[in-house]
Amino acid sequence: MNLYNIKDNSEQVSFAQAVRQGLGREQGLFFPEQLEPLADVDALLDLPLAERSARILSHLLGDEVPAAKVSELVNAAFTFPAPLVKLKDNTYALELFHGPTLAFKDFGGRFMAQCLAAFRTNDKITILTATSGDTGAAVAHAFYGLEGIEVVILYPKGKISPLQEKLFCTLGGNIRTIAIDGDFDACQALVKQAFDDEALKKAIGLNSANSINISRLLAQVCYYFEAVAQLPKADRAKAVISVPSGNFGNLTAGLIAKALGLPVKRFIAATNANDTVPRYLKTGQWEPHQTVATLSNAMDVSRPNNWPRVEELCRRKGWALETLGSGMRDDAQTRAALKRLHQLDYLCEPHGAIAWDLLGEQLAEDEVGVFLCTAHPAKFKESVDEILNLDVPLPGPLAKHAELPLLSVNLPAEFARLRAFLVG
Ligand SMILES: Cc1ncc(COP(=O)(O)O)c(C=O)c1O
Repeated sequence: MNLYNIKDNSEQVSFAQAVRQGLGREQGLFFPEQLEPLADVDALLDLPLAERSARILSHLLGDEVPAAKVSELVNAAFTFPAPLVKLKDNTYALELFHGPTLAFKDFGGRFMAQCLAAFRTNDKITILTATSGDTGAAVAHAFYGLEGIEVVILYPKGKISPLQEKLFCTLGGNIRTIAIDGDFDACQALVKQAFDDEALKKAIGLNSANSINISRLLAQVCYYFEAVAQLPKADRAKAVISVPSGNFGNLTAGLIAKALGLPVKRFIAATNANDTVPRYLKTGQWEPHQTVATLSNAMDVSRPNNWPRVEELCRRKGWALETLGSGMRDDAQTRAALKRLHQLDYLCEPHGAIAWDLLGEQLAEDEVGVFLCTAHPAKFKESVDEILNLDVPLPGPLAKHAELPLLSVNLPAEFARLRAFLVG
């Protein structure tokens, strides 16, 4: 697989290089050179998730990775289902939260971890990441137990929920966690300092598990196929998929699936009040506002990193940007949507509820709608409990970790101390 840097097309890399490097020159995103449609999509849709996903990824990766190796990576990464749940005649929820950390990030995070382990060139790799809560869990669980890869996760002491902390600070093994005396910005600043320290980078094989890594996106393509595979055959070409969007990686993956021949009629980009993209699609003006905090906090992004990939793909395929549906929901509308969904007997959380509400608004009578449920309701327990007056029970993985002792060490927000810890 060849990829080029969207900002500087002369920079061309292989998939393995793109996985290791993350970003190109000038912070440019890598994008696949070839996106040839798959040969027999109907037959593919009849296969089980892991087998189908291995074929899709093998088609994308081409000669660079042998098909048997791709199957091995996929089988190790996709160990959980993505069920499509029917709400009423023409609406379905695609549940992407059945992985170990209960969010769609498990698909991309776990595949990336497998790829990094397979393509590493250094003797040792140290993944250093700062988290404000959820990314830490997905990264920790994805890399847990992978030979030759050390993971160090920094988080602001006392500023993440006790449950979030338990989910990734109780693993041990190759996962080390540090509670930093400071806020999330202080943690991020320490990570940046580490990446600026060339000697340290070399000594410990420093790498990041950045969310704009192409391996994460390609893994996400697979669950769009899984959604359509579970629809009745007659409904497939009428499918409209509503995607809760923040950084727009999820939507990019959906559009790549369509470019590969997945029969999806159209997509809806659903945002919260941080609605740079819906406004841009309406007015043609790219005018990011100050980011505001919302109930769907994982989508509190006003300058979405992956948007250039969406534009690049639409340009290459000749798809007019205006054909992309979009819309936003503020917190009051999100609360109301969550309540209405609950009355329909479906327990959701704020991100999925936004996608559902916009789908309901924009779905035509002859269409079939799918909205993506990107996180388990228990991950947003505080707001879900308050809005719905419930006490959402913790699912297995969370409940298990809640009982285990914390293994974190505590450090001040001083780079010298972090450096000593990493080298030691
Ligand atoms: C629960 C949840 N839903 C939706 C999103 C938005 O996905 P994307 O940033 O790929 O647009 C995120 C992103 O972190 C998320 O955590």
